[in-house]
Amino acid sequence: MSGIYKYTAENIKQAAEIIKNGGLVAFPTDTVYGLGANVYNPQAVANIFAAKGRPSFDPLISHIADIDFLPEYAITDERVMTLAKKFWPGPLTFVLKRKEQNSSLDLVCSGLPNIAVRMPNHPVALDLIRQSGVPIAAPSANRFKCISPTTAEHVESGLGNKVDMILDGGPCTIGVETTIIDLTTPQIVMLRAGGLSKEILEDFTGEKIYISHGDPDKPSAPGQLLKHYAPSMPMRINVEEDDVRPDEFFIGFGQVKKAHLNLSPSGNLNEAAANLFAFMREGEKHTEYKGIAMSPIPMEGLGLAINDRIRRASYQE
Ligand code: TXA
Ligand code: MG
Repeated sequence: MSGIYKYTAENIKQAAEIIKNGGLVAFPTDTVYGLGANVYNPQAVANIFAAKGRPSFDPLISHIADIDFLPEYAITDERVMTLAKKFWPGPLTFVLKRKEQNSSLDLVCSGLPNIAVRMPNHPVALDLIRQSGVPIAAPSANRFKCISPTTAEHVESGLGNKVDMILDGGPCTIGVETTIIDLTTPQIVMLRAGGLSKEILEDFTGEKIYISHGDPDKPSAPGQLLKHYAPSMPMRINVEEDDVRPDEFFIGFGQVKKAHLNLSPSGNLNEAAANLFAFMREGEKHTEYKGIAMSPIPMEGLGLAINDRIRRASYQE
């Protein structure tokens, strides 16, 4: 069986059974849709990579539904718990030291001594995790290097019958993936810009958050690959309205007049993040154009995550 299923008590129960039995369920989160499997079932986790067409294994984020579960799973301290209480459920992932070297978690962690964990702010995701009774490992539910899905229909068009069930929770409200921070070192290092802004984290912690630039050939986060999140046609970024070519589909931001789509006419970066992936998908459907051009996006708030994604999407190999 596969296909899109509404959020009903019966469907969640069935989805939880699929997870328990080693199957794959795509589910909505606050950021993007995830492709989920039982973290403790290495074969199910391996099937995630096969379904995505990921050429190599990269570590996955474990999704949990209760903060109390965290200390059983990873090494925590006051800093970790304070951040969890403040920002969970929400668009923030922690990289922590693994608690026990439980070998069934080796594939989820790609053999690393660390584990990435988050608690999504979405009732469907939380219900699914609770009813499955295990943390759920989930990357974004898209084919490798493609645009992350923000609706159930996006998941179906990319992964279709490769997943046992797609739970529909409507469009994701945040629209870009989580911010990932490494908490295994004294300084907090941001491994991926995402749905929680660096400014908010710095305000709350009173600390400078360092940004990891990573090694694009050996990413500790696949989001660090130079080409990622890419539409199927060339994309140019930081394009002012007057420089858009006649054969380009123009995705604007703020007060531009001639955009085919506008991420946020009022210049709101949260609204722009929520629209970003759906608009890139819309753009690539317009095959009467040769490429996509996008307005400059300010480097503040969620603009950091937006610029990160569009820079990779526009990268020419
Ligand atoms: O918003 C999100 O985070 C979504 C939803 C579904 O939760 N998930 C997501 O997963 O974006 P994925 O697999 O597309 O990206 C997970 C990132 C990868 O860049 C991976 O390398 C990094 O998390 N990661 C996972 N475990 C790690 C670890 N132990 N150390 C460093 N990075 C890790
Ligand atoms: Mg992804």
